[in-house]
Amino acid sequence: MFPAYLFFLLFVLNADMITDLKQHFNLAKVTFHNDLDRCAGLEMDAVAVNEEGIPYFFKGDHLFKGFHGHAEFSNKSFAELDDHHHLGHVDAAFHMHFEDNPDDHDRMFFFLDNKVFSFYKHKLEDGYPKDISEVFPGIPDHLDAAVECPHPECPNDSVIFFKGDEIYHFDLKSKAVEEKEFKSMPNCTSAFRFMEHYYCFHGHMFSKFDPKTGEVHGKYPKEARDYFMRCSKFSNSSDHVERERCSRVHLDAITSDNAGNIYAFRGHHYLHKDENDTLTSDTIDNDFKELHSEVDAAFSYENHLYLIKNNNLYVYQVGEPHTHLDGYPKPVKEELGIEGPIDAAFVCEDHHIAHIIKGNHMYDVELKVTPRKAGNERPIGPFKRVDTAMCGPGGVKVIIGNHFYHFDSTKLLSTARSLPEQHKVSLELFGCDH
Ligand SMILES: *[C@@H]1O[C@H](CO)[C@@H](O)[C@H](O)[C@H]1NC(C)=O
Ligand SMILES: *[C@@H]1O[C@H](CO)[C@@H](O)[C@H](O)[C@H]1NC(C)=O
Ligand SMILES: *[C@@H]1O[C@H](CO)[C@@H](O)[C@H](O)[C@H]1NC(C)=O
Ligand SMILES: *[C@@H]1O[C@H](CO)[C@@H](O)[C@H](O)[C@H]1NC(C)=O
Ligand SMILES: *[C@@H]1O[C@H](CO)[C@@H](O)[C@H](O)[C@H]1NC(C)=O
Repeated sequence: MFPAYLFFLLFVLNADMITDLKQHFNLAKVTFHNDLDRCAGLEMDAVAVNEEGIPYFFKGDHLFKGFHGHAEFSNKSFAELDDHHHLGHVDAAFHMHFEDNPDDHDRMFFFLDNKVFSFYKHKLEDGYPKDISEVFPGIPDHLDAAVECPHPECPNDSVIFFKGDEIYHFDLKSKAVEEKEFKSMPNCTSAFRFMEHYYCFHGHMFSKFDPKTGEVHGKYPKEARDYFMRCSKFSNSSDHVERERCSRVHLDAITSDNAGNIYAFRGHHYLHKDENDTLTSDTIDNDFKELHSEVDAAFSYENHLYLIKNNNLYVYQVGEPHTHLDGYPKPVKEELGIEGPIDAAFVCEDHHIAHIIKGNHMYDVELKVTPRKAGNERPIGPFKRVDTAMCGPGGVKVIIGNHFYHFDSTKLLSTARSLPEQHKVSLELFGCDH
């Protein structure tokens, strides 16, 4: 038997820590409700984005929302899945939203055996479930995967269905079915469209494919958890630099200094881009061991990295290795005059003001003034929240999920009324080519 305190600990710890603990104490046989571990390399049953573009990964009777966090029962979000079926899984899913067909409002379709379920805002639509053969004539039952393919990514608004090695393009308007052979593609166990790209998952690997031809370009398959999951540990063959530059998982914190160095933190790892654009990556534990992992915010000031986690500020002198200053960490409130945790922080060029973003407001902290205090409270332009932000000679970059938004100055950020052009983090900040 395990000591009672272990059970208590397991209740209060997060999933990563539970995984760590379990490996430590070899508790692998104890199962918990939230214990499906996607970082161990799970094969998903189905994947689809919801109305807000958040990917939902289905496994058995569980659902993972987004790229991190616990599994929950799918019936919590899609209650009626249970009323009609007690199979406890979905075969395939896709998200229907076609700009050319405004009547087709945002819907999520699920496939189970011979039935299709259509959900609008997480409510089953009237008349559903229906037979697949009624809604998608010509499409077989017991599907493996499905993915939407809007025009012009496909010639017409379509859905691509997968079963074994058979692939069907279903034209939504004409209901014509075209059977295609995607020779280079493995059998997909789930598929989804994310940021205009198409992914076929097979086991815990995935391949990116061209929806028109099924061609897979580039070095695939790759590990799904490297790109679509936030894990404390990855497989031992995972290339840290490649993974961190290309991961679709949100960043925790990013900072750039005047010399052009960028440090980007995500989970237990960080990516460094030096002045010559050379990328290196390591665990946070190796180079910032006092921090361990999961940074909230970071800014660079006078050759120091200021890293904020919960209520604490850590200060490192930049060097090989970085050295943690004596006396730190100190409370954020004491050092910056604002209660932690915060979401983002940045200093522009050689200015002496740290701009702090917390919730939907930003504040200025004069770094040369003691005691420091956070003033000049104002909104963060068009945003309700941000993941992180940084400032360089060209202006401010605000990062949310896979996208960043550029503003020529902090002032233009706080007064902006509409979203500027969206840029891709992996592609445009880190040069990931896929
Ligand atoms: C949801 O599914 C789980 C497991 O399949 C089941 O135990 C639970 O009773 C279901 N909840 C509801 C509200 O149907
Ligand atoms: C696209 O739609 C048009 C008009 O409905 C049809 O003639 C054409 O065959 C469709 N193309 C494909 C590839 O299904
Ligand atoms: C792909 O599916 C076909 C059945 O449609 C099956 O014969 C084949 O073995 C599968 N390939 C793999 C690698 O599982
Ligand atoms: C990864 O670990 C497995 C098992 O621990 C081992 O068999 C394999 O050789 C390792 N691969 C690499 C690239 O180190
Ligand atoms: C960047 O490149 C320059 C010129 O090749 C070199 O002198 C400098 O040491 C490089 N910096 C780093 C951090 O490698």
